[in-house]
Amino acid sequence: MAGRSFQGRRAGTLRAPALALLAGAMLLPLPRAEAEPLTERLVPCLACHGETGTSQTPEVPSLGGQPADFLLIQLYQFREKQRIAEPMNELTKDFTDDDLRAFAEQMAKLPPPVPPPEGRQPELVEKGRVAAQRHRCGTCHNPDMSGHDQIGRIGAQREDYLLKALREYKTGERRGYDPAMVEVARGIPDEDLVAISHYLAYWPPAQ
Ligand code: HEC
Ligand code: HEC
Repeated sequence: MAGRSFQGRRAGTLRAPALALLAGAMLLPLPRAEAEPLTERLVPCLACHGETGTSQTPEVPSLGGQPADFLLIQLYQFREKQRIAEPMNELTKDFTDDDLRAFAEQMAKLPPPVPPPEGRQPELVEKGRVAAQRHRCGTCHNPDMSGHDQIGRIGAQREDYLLKALREYKTGERRGYDPAMVEVARGIPDEDLVAISHYLAYWPPAQ
């Protein structure tokens, strides 16, 4: 009995300062976050996506050299939950339109990604080249795969991310703001998606 009431009092004395701290924590960071310069807000983004524009994180896309309009529309889709991907939905949920624009413009200035130094499989590259030509990836993404306007850069993108994205378009899990990719991917066998992802990841192909 005595022990229990002692614990009860202890909990009571601890609760008040803990609550005060919590209230302070809830009030303080908001104005600070708003005043925080964009370069600081970009730090966690770049930790995942790569400071140099080339991502070193599995299944996280490189963002360097992406057209700003493409980045903007993807960030918009994350915020609106039209594209589902943890953690991006959570990260963008309180962004204003100006935030989306500022992040897109800043990330587009990073240098285009570079392919991995090794791992190129010449036969798979060749198979991917033939399949990419057949499905005319370059007509929309540019012959040099650099993208333009609201169409992403896919040359030297991470292979695991490319394959994940293509499979998600194929199943309709990722619909895109434009149905083009769902239509393109629907008709491509999985083994060709694998080859195309490899071909693009080691962009540009050896001459
Ligand atoms: C914890 C890691 C992580 C952090 C932090 C992060 N991202 Fe992402 N981001 C991802 C992943 C994973 C995806 C791909 C989701 C998918 O598979 O569709 C992504 C996708 C994106 C895309 C779409 C790119 C494309 O090619 O379609 C943009 C733009 C983006 N993130 C911007 C940002 C910005 C801006 C921030 C900072 C506010 C940020 N990210 C922070 C993991 C992260
Ligand atoms: C008719 C035009 C068109 C063609 C052809 C096309 N694409 Fe796309 N692609 C798009 C558009 C538009 C988007 C952006 C869609 C969205 O919002 O998700 C896109 C997005 C992508 C993405 C997602 C990029 C990212 O960073 O998230 C990949 C990967 C991709 N395309 C690969 C390909 C490949 C590989 C081919 C050839 C097999 C191809 N595309 C052919 C128009 C096209």
